[in-house]
Amino acid sequence: MIKTPKGLNIGLVGAGYVGLVTGACLAHLGYRVVCVDRDEERLASLEAGRVPFYEPGLEELVRRNAERLHFSTDLASVVSEADVVFIAVDTPQGEDGSADLSNVASVARGIGYALAEPEASPREHPLVVVNKSTVPVGSGDYVSMLIRDGVEEVGGEAVPFPVVVSNPEFLREGSAVYDALFPDRIVVGADSSEAMDTLRALYKPIIEQSFPTELDPRPKVAVPFLTTDLASAEMIKYAANAFLATKVSFINEVANLCELVGADVGEVAYGIGLDERIGPRFLSAGIGWGGSCFPKDVAALRAVAAEYNYEPVLLDAVVAANEKQRKQVVGKLQRELRTLKGKRIALLGLAFKPNTDDLREAPSLTIARSLDSLGAMVVGYDPVAGDVAASSGLLPTSMKVVFDPYEALTGAHAAVLVTEWGQIRTLDLKKVASVMKNPPLLVDGRNVLDPEKVRAAGIHYKGFGRGRRSV
Ligand code: UGA
Repeated sequence: MIKTPKGLNIGLVGAGYVGLVTGACLAHLGYRVVCVDRDEERLASLEAGRVPFYEPGLEELVRRNAERLHFSTDLASVVSEADVVFIAVDTPQGEDGSADLSNVASVARGIGYALAEPEASPREHPLVVVNKSTVPVGSGDYVSMLIRDGVEEVGGEAVPFPVVVSNPEFLREGSAVYDALFPDRIVVGADSSEAMDTLRALYKPIIEQSFPTELDPRPKVAVPFLTTDLASAEMIKYAANAFLATKVSFINEVANLCELVGADVGEVAYGIGLDERIGPRFLSAGIGWGGSCFPKDVAALRAVAAEYNYEPVLLDAVVAANEKQRKQVVGKLQRELRTLKGKRIALLGLAFKPNTDDLREAPSLTIARSLDSLGAMVVGYDPVAGDVAASSGLLPTSMKVVFDPYEALTGAHAAVLVTEWGQIRTLDLKKVASVMKNPPLLVDGRNVLDPEKVRAAGIHYKGFGRGRRSV
């Protein structure tokens, strides 16, 4: 028997990016949610309605739903009251590329301890443990095993034993709130039909798009709720990210070929994207993909392949193509400026993509390091990630980070558009030309500027495979 969904008590472990977005959205749907995290400072900031990282719309959602969204450091008491516990802790990349599951493991054991405590009374229904952390295929069973370990360590009993479900997230940084409320699909992997029913009931307002919203004016279409076995749900997460990374690496390879034959990759991408089997998205060519997900997940999938002695030739090539793409920026600058020694180069945008302050695996880092090692003076600007970048220790020590784009461009021999922030796409090109060294050069790492307009402002333009528009 499933409880009325709104009556479900939800615990959510990990008040990071995925956990907080999920928690705030579930609270928005009407549930009582308690987010558990060991970082007291983070929780204090959240209690006060401040989100400690940049994600558009999230702070407002947290504040609006403060009545139903609570924070705690006490995993045991949250587990004891919850009907459903989500695990949303990070699984960073280990040294061999595989996902480091130590955070997931300690939460799973902690759930076991809590369930086995002498005062934990038997439940009518098993606790449903929903794994949202990105974990390698087979980890659902591993989480069950660790919960059991926790129970046994305390020498107690968990009656009935919890059910572990896989429910991967498909949130994009920068539009995570939107993606959580208006997903393309919800995937749930489990061996228990009762647990599936609990999740179906929990997600009903999203499946039916029946929650109140002013966020999306489009007509409401039911969201597919896909149920699979545990291993398939876990694989769907990896395969989705690996496929998207493949799409980007593919179009980048096509851009390089376009550059050789004089074709325009923008037109080619549009032309192939009209084919419904291909689709228009994730076909923007440029300096390639980065972030906290694609690199980590593709590496983890390759590590799984290695475990099974399987050679993932396509994934290997997808990564190699991406690494090559970043180097192209340096090549383009060298072809135009000859030596880079002593040349001032402005990097416009440092975050791995717009609408985030995340620098993980950002192309800006590799490009800055290469330019620095070739003797260039690198100056960076980012409208949001500037502070994070300046204090990250990830940039070359001699690199300066400034907070005004024109300051970065003043006296620069060349500028590289690294992140396509609105603030950068709409720069006053005449002003750009007037502050840069003559003749000014701009390498558009995202193919987002209009080459004709850039040239009309007196700036030499270099894109990625934009054919005649780029020369
Ligand atoms: C990605 C997926 O899109 C989400 O569905 C997934 O949930 C998330 O990873 C995750 O696993 O948590 P995200 O890393 O936020 O989301 O970023 P994307 O918007 O997917 O972009 C990834 C990278 O590809 C960025 O560096 C972006 O600049 C690059 N990209 C994207 C391109 O170079 N060209 C494109 O056409 C699209």
